[in-house]
Amino acid sequence: MLILKLGGSVVTYKDKPFTPHIDNIARLAAEIAEADAQPLVVVHGGGSYGHPIATEYGIAEGYREPRQIIGFSKTHQAMIELNDIIVRELLDAGVPAFAVSPSSFIVTESRRITDIDLQVVERLIESGLIPVLYGDAVMDTRQGFTIISGDQLAVKLAKGLEAERVVLGSDVDGVFTDDPKLVEDARLIEELSLSNHGDEAKIGDALDTDVTGGMLGKVVEATEAVEAGIEVVLVNATVGGRVRAALRGEKVIGTRLKR
Ligand code: IPE
Repeated sequence: MLILKLGGSVVTYKDKPFTPHIDNIARLAAEIAEADAQPLVVVHGGGSYGHPIATEYGIAEGYREPRQIIGFSKTHQAMIELNDIIVRELLDAGVPAFAVSPSSFIVTESRRITDIDLQVVERLIESGLIPVLYGDAVMDTRQGFTIISGDQLAVKLAKGLEAERVVLGSDVDGVFTDDPKLVEDARLIEELSLSNHGDEAKIGDALDTDVTGGMLGKVVEATEAVEAGIEVVLVNATVGGRVRAALRGEKVIGTRLKR
């Protein structure tokens, strides 16, 4: 069982509202087909679909005023549109993808997933389908509603489905010793020990954040899976071949998280 998360910066042009990155999506669909790694669940992020609307209406922070209600729906709808584009590309590549809406079977409490009914996803997988989910606007028992990241969802699915490996694909090679965009001799950390908090502090400085938390958020989120004995690999999904290699369990440029 493998879980693949494709970040919003991979499947969209993050700075251009509602612009899918069709080249990346089509290439990744082909890589997923070639990897032929099943069972597999694909999760994608929001990028320039989910994030701008979620931010405009303050959806992650929960209900405060009536104008947010339509924003909650618009955020979810934006994700459905992006999901539709991705599922179509997967189908075109011959991958039996099946769209599944996270908000219809997940509830959070204070932004953390507390209720998740995996029955349908499990049966889809058993039938040979590849469920395709996404970070979504979901109902929250404390704050009315919120946003769950694709990373939180990927980790929850990995634990619930007892996955062997989670591949987190973003637009950077992995975790660096410093911000590679600012520090010339920043080095890629091939194996990151989660018990070494010194590293984590640096990651916090090094990378930008969005409504659901950037690279530090990714690593913190993944801790739960790593502690459960699941392999977590961070790779650059904008570089051809890396996702395919990571899905196949081959050696690949990236960061492997370990206890
Ligand atoms: C956010 O998902 C989904 C919404 C904003 C509705 P992610 O947090 O996983 O998205 P990216 O990968 O950072 O774009």
